[in-house]
Amino acid sequence: YLNKKPAGKTDFYEYAFDGGLKLNVPSDWNSQLPELKYYEGTVWYAKHFDAPKEQNGRLFIYFAAVSYRCKVYLNGKEIAAHEGGFTPFQVEVTGLVKDTDNFLALEVNNTRTADAIPAKSFDWWNYGGITRDVMLISTPKVFIQDYFIQLDKHRSNQINAQVKVSDSQANVAVTVEIPELNIKQKLLTDQQGIARASIANVKHLQRWSPENPRRYNVRVSAAADAVDEMIGFRNLAVKGTRVYLNDKPIFLKSISFHEEIPQRKGRAFSEADATMLLSEAMALGCNMIRLAHYPQNEYTVRTAEKMGFLLWEETPIWQGIDFENQETKKKAGNMIKEMVMRDKNRCALSFWGMANETKPSAARNEFLSYLIKCTKEIDSTRLITAAFDLVRFDRSKQRFVMDDPFIKEIDVVAINKYMGWYHPWPVTPDKAIWEVATDKPLIISEFGAEALYGKTGDADVASSWSEDYQAQLYKDNLEMFKNIPNLTGISPWVLFDFRSPFRFHPTYQEGWNRKGLVSDQGFRKKAWYIIADYYKNIK
Ligand code: GCU
Repeated sequence: YLNKKPAGKTDFYEYAFDGGLKLNVPSDWNSQLPELKYYEGTVWYAKHFDAPKEQNGRLFIYFAAVSYRCKVYLNGKEIAAHEGGFTPFQVEVTGLVKDTDNFLALEVNNTRTADAIPAKSFDWWNYGGITRDVMLISTPKVFIQDYFIQLDKHRSNQINAQVKVSDSQANVAVTVEIPELNIKQKLLTDQQGIARASIANVKHLQRWSPENPRRYNVRVSAAADAVDEMIGFRNLAVKGTRVYLNDKPIFLKSISFHEEIPQRKGRAFSEADATMLLSEAMALGCNMIRLAHYPQNEYTVRTAEKMGFLLWEETPIWQGIDFENQETKKKAGNMIKEMVMRDKNRCALSFWGMANETKPSAARNEFLSYLIKCTKEIDSTRLITAAFDLVRFDRSKQRFVMDDPFIKEIDVVAINKYMGWYHPWPVTPDKAIWEVATDKPLIISEFGAEALYGKTGDADVASSWSEDYQAQLYKDNLEMFKNIPNLTGISPWVLFDFRSPFRFHPTYQEGWNRKGLVSDQGFRKKAWYIIADYYKNIK
């Protein structure tokens, strides 16, 4: 990172950036060179840049994500380090940049470790690299550091706004404007540099919904800084065993996808990628996306909101996490705060997911309760959920049941259950009655089976890996879902075949998890049409 060059006759260095591999940024490295497909380790990136001409006070370098951990060096000095492959971070470089030829180097490492999040084994590809945008941002001396603007949780005509200016500056004049709603609030920051407003009796507000994803231009200004952002306003609540959007019960027609473009065998990172993934969900008739299993890029989140999808976001607390490790707990807290900080102004964001398929234990319960606390420190308005996979069939009761102490801490219970795939049917689907968390809304957050596109076979032979078997399994599960009294939504696993180091059956998988309703080449399997029909007709 010192970028030393040989000077005298006897100098030599066993490294150089000039003449090295060229890697695209943003993009994972695995998809850029065959020899990097499985690469797990360290890659050094470097870039020369000139300071921007127009600088009006302060300069920051912003990384939308680097997977999985990195150190940042500028002109020979370490200026930042970050762990977590799916959330943004930034570093102020005011006064550290020269007019020309600044040297930025990143040491990026994606080696899996037992104390990380995710830990050593997870069912998706371990893409490494500077996987999302990098930006050089100049701001005025006093700038708008953060804001949180949303419809009040309980009132449909009150907008709450909170604006924080840099360095906790007090007595700074702040304006919040929403021209289409005739709102123009003049505020002053307090001793913590925060200005607050509860704007009551808002007239003619069109609340955001999947049918009408209405957003408003909101302008926040303070001192010489101003930010324009499109923000939607909606009410979201749990009443009994249903989720209510804008005071009406809603059935969640969800789907999951990983942050991956299968045809490119690479991580999705652009607006075009987001549009491709979300257009397929729109065609399927969904009104919600469970963004599996980590915070996906902002293009996906913002495009989903524009198109009218409710969102579930989660950090990769996936199965085996070192719940006993206090360092890991701190990391998890930081990660979930970075996620909530980034997306708290996205009205489409409805569910914060705390975990996926974790086993009950005192340490796990304590760890996840801490994550709920971290989440609510920033946003106490959205619904807290978690996906569990320990529903079992109780033969004596002839019921599907699950007891997990963590259920009482969350608003909506989510269950992953692969009836007909990992679990043979103990009774016929029409007799598969559920009695799980019956006082809360329940989402089936995963179900499905693998099928190789184009493979035909017997609809009752799992080992055929056929579209017919997958389609029949979907029909059977939809039949069973009629017997879940508190069902408020479903989210089949998964929209697209995706890459995984777990999935190496030589004929049917070859490194792909084939549970997609759409193949890795973009072809819709028979089960796709079963869900499309179900979503079209469900009330
Ligand atoms: C689990 C897990 C998914 C995984 C899926 C599968 O439920 O949540 O990440 O891909 O099952 O087995 O395909």
